[in-house]
Amino acid sequence: MKLADVTIPAFAWAIAGWLAGLGTLGAVGLAVLVFGLFDVRASTPDNPLFAWATHTTMIHATQRRAGSSAPARFTAAQVQAGFADYDRLCVSCHGGPGVDRQRWASGMEPTPPYLLDAARNWTPAQLKMIIGDGVRMTGMPAWRTALSNAQQWDIVAFVEAMPYLSAGDYQKLRAASPPDSDCH
Ligand code: HEC
Repeated sequence: MKLADVTIPAFAWAIAGWLAGLGTLGAVGLAVLVFGLFDVRASTPDNPLFAWATHTTMIHATQRRAGSSAPARFTAAQVQAGFADYDRLCVSCHGGPGVDRQRWASGMEPTPPYLLDAARNWTPAQLKMIIGDGVRMTGMPAWRTALSNAQQWDIVAFVEAMPYLSAGDYQKLRAASPPDSDCH
C-alpha cells in the first residue's frame, strides 16, 4: 500500500486543525509574555473593547457573588460616620458632590468613576462587596483589610445618601465632622 492510498478520516483533520490552532494561540500568548507585547503603561488608554469586556465582567461577577443581605435601613448616625470615612479614604479617587477627584486619579486606568449615582446602579449588598473586597486589576482596594464590617456598612449608608446631597450639604457634613488626624 502506498502512502497516497491512506485515507485520513475527517475527524483526524479536525483534531489536527484544533491542535494547530491551540499551538498558534499558545505561541502568541507566550510571545506577549516574553517580548512584553502588552502595553502595561497606565498612561495608555484601554482599548474600548477590552474596557467594555473587563467592566462587564466586573458587573456580572459582583451581581453573582454579592448576595442580598443588608440592613433594612440606615440611620443618620451611620451616614455621618460613613461620610467621615468616605471623605478621608475615597474622595481623592471618586470625588463627591461638588468635590473633584484628585488630578492624579485621572492618571489611573481604569479611571475611578464618580459615585454620585452609584446607589442607583448597585444594591447595598453589592456596594458592600465592592467596598470590602475591592476590584482586581484596577486601583480599587479591598477595604476589609483596613475597615471593620460596621465601618464598611457606614460607608454604604453614605453612598446610598449621596444622590440626595448637594455640594453645600457635603461641605456642611465636612464642617460637622471632627478634624481628622490620619493622613489623606
Ligand atoms: C486609589 C483609588 C481608589 C480609592 C482610594 C477608592 N477607589 Fe473605589 N474604585 C477605584 C477604581 C479604579 C474603580 C473602578 C473599578 C472598575 O472599573 O471596575 C473603583 C470602583 C468603585 C466602585 C464601583 C463603581 C461603579 O459604579 O463601577 C465603588 C462603589 C467604589 N469604588 C467605592 C469606593 C469607596 C467607598 C472607597 C473608599 C472606602 C473607594 N472606592 C476608594 C479606585 C479607588
